[in-house]
Amino acid sequence: MTDPTDPRTDKTLAFPPALRVHGSRHAAFVPLVAAAEVPAGTMRRVTIGELDLLVARTPEGIVVVDDRCPHMSAPLSLGSLDGCVVACPLHEGRFDLCSGGTVQMPTTGGLDADGTYHPTWSPVGREPKVDPPGLKAEARRLTRVRRFRYYPVRVVDGTIEAALPTD
Ligand code: FES
Repeated sequence: MTDPTDPRTDKTLAFPPALRVHGSRHAAFVPLVAAAEVPAGTMRRVTIGELDLLVARTPEGIVVVDDRCPHMSAPLSLGSLDGCVVACPLHEGRFDLCSGGTVQMPTTGGLDADGTYHPTWSPVGREPKVDPPGLKAEARRLTRVRRFRYYPVRVVDGTIEAALPTD
């Protein structure tokens, strides 16, 4: 349970500067949600206009990214959070919210952030998956799993705020 008197409680994640959301450097901070509504080890979706955001409280701090899987955009808020790692509900991809990187490639395979190809795979105990040839397989093969992009975050008077680009 979050202790609101603990000054470390509301620390924000120091994400890699190169992974900042484009256009957010001089953007205005917008209130998202009360910090108390995102206890340690949890995450939730917050929608602002057309933006669906994932607000998570990891052991390294509070983080805000798009609520879209870096693979095929499924809402990560429907997945699960284990430490810094969020698991996508769609293709078993697992992604590190603290580093921005991929921990486990999706079952569909595809390209990692560096452009290296990874084949399809099946979870332990299931039949090996055979990807039939064709346009869909080609699309899966060429889908690149990107790194997270981060919104700058701060906590003001118990409210989590993020810098959201306005144009
Ligand atoms: S959409 Fe998340 S792993 Fe595919």
